[in-house]
Amino acid sequence: MSRLVVVSNRVADLTVSAQQGGLAVALADALRQRGGVWFGWSGENSDKAAQEEPKVEQYGNVERIAVSLSKKDYGDFYVGYANSVLWPLFHYRLDIVKYRRSYFDGYNRVNQLYAEKLLPFLKPDDMIWAQDYHLILFAKALRERGCKQRMGYFLHIPFPPPDLMAASPNHKALVNGLLAYDVIGFQTSTDAHNLRRYLIEYPSDAEVDGNGRITVEGREVRIDRFPIGIDNDVFAEMAQNSPDDVQIDIMRRRVLGRKQIIGVDRLDYSKGLPARVQAFGRLLEKFPQTEKAVTFLQIAPPTREDVSAYAVIRKEMESLTGAINGKYSDFNWTPIRYIHRSVPRDKLAALFRGSQVGFVTPLRDGMNLVAKEYVAAQDPEDPGVLVLSQFAGAAEEMNAALIVNPYDIDEMANKLNKALTMPLEERKERHRHLMVSIRNFDARSWLDGFLAALEGRTNGGDVTE
Ligand code: G6P
Repeated sequence: MSRLVVVSNRVADLTVSAQQGGLAVALADALRQRGGVWFGWSGENSDKAAQEEPKVEQYGNVERIAVSLSKKDYGDFYVGYANSVLWPLFHYRLDIVKYRRSYFDGYNRVNQLYAEKLLPFLKPDDMIWAQDYHLILFAKALRERGCKQRMGYFLHIPFPPPDLMAASPNHKALVNGLLAYDVIGFQTSTDAHNLRRYLIEYPSDAEVDGNGRITVEGREVRIDRFPIGIDNDVFAEMAQNSPDDVQIDIMRRRVLGRKQIIGVDRLDYSKGLPARVQAFGRLLEKFPQTEKAVTFLQIAPPTREDVSAYAVIRKEMESLTGAINGKYSDFNWTPIRYIHRSVPRDKLAALFRGSQVGFVTPLRDGMNLVAKEYVAAQDPEDPGVLVLSQFAGAAEEMNAALIVNPYDIDEMANKLNKALTMPLEERKERHRHLMVSIRNFDARSWLDGFLAALEGRTNGGDVTE
């Protein structure tokens, strides 16, 4: 079995327990099984970054290799191209893209830097697996240095339709960069289809034959979907071991006959948070019986605060929650509990189980694992209801949820009311279906499916059709 080399922008902490870190844990397991390397950015900035030796730590048969970035590279690559251009563009938000040529130069520079720093650690029969939108040009940078290894790429976020993609001045370089990988994996069939459509509609290094087979100078490139998931059993178990403070909160609500709607997201504009808060406000307005009978708990930890669009969303959320709380609060009830801090995973799991509605309404999302975690955490004998945006990748499989358009505030308010009043039998039935979908597409199947494709054990038939 060849070694696995995982590359991600942020190198994972390999000491985290299964309790702490969903996806990183699954990838670290795969690394331990076959031995390998996890390579990426340490999260630190240093002005001598280019000259510094990578920091290498050994965990059994897994090497963790971390590099730092100069302040300029952090600005142009991470704040600039990755998070002010690619992130909004790939989430269909051309309106907030802040493009500068120097950002793309920085992006290219850091992909080259990562390749250069990883190169001395590579062995000829390694398998390389790059993660996410920071590393689109990484395989090409390795190939330019003579690497012949199998290289896979998985995009955790959406991939936009061809005409949106083409709005980026660098679309050709990005797509040709992707084509240097042997396997290009996406979350959903829509994303995979968007790249296939691009290859048909726009010139690139690829040739697409009548059967949809894609080759680049004779080398076959596989484009497919590999929906990501969670470790359902670990999460379900965590949800049942409720910390004391969460138990007390649940009991208090039970005594008062009060229900809870929960949302958990990084404070990102792609998550549809302002419209979600407005939908909760509309619920209180349209269905007065919900007053004092329902609380909305939104946990939204800070993220990417150096990117200007994130400061805007923060202000907007503070003003919206403030307005609704000001209008409806009473001495013994606050309608919205808004938490702009992170909450440990075991507490989240217990809070999911203690909430009657999971409210997940991104405007666009690669998969959205919160939707899966909410379902896994429920008591099958008395489950809560998932209200899910049609634009989350998860909606492709989780159609037993109450599906909403996250731009339609009235529809969201109506569906919230439906969720809060849904009879037990229907809740159980929907939950059973949702459990089947999250079991079919869990962390293991994602990992096994992708690695099989990368090893060439499964052929390139598109599982999406
Ligand atoms: C999303 C991305 C990840 C990223 C994470 C946190 O989930 O898909 O690649 O690591 O957000 O964002 P950050 O910018 O802090 O790494």
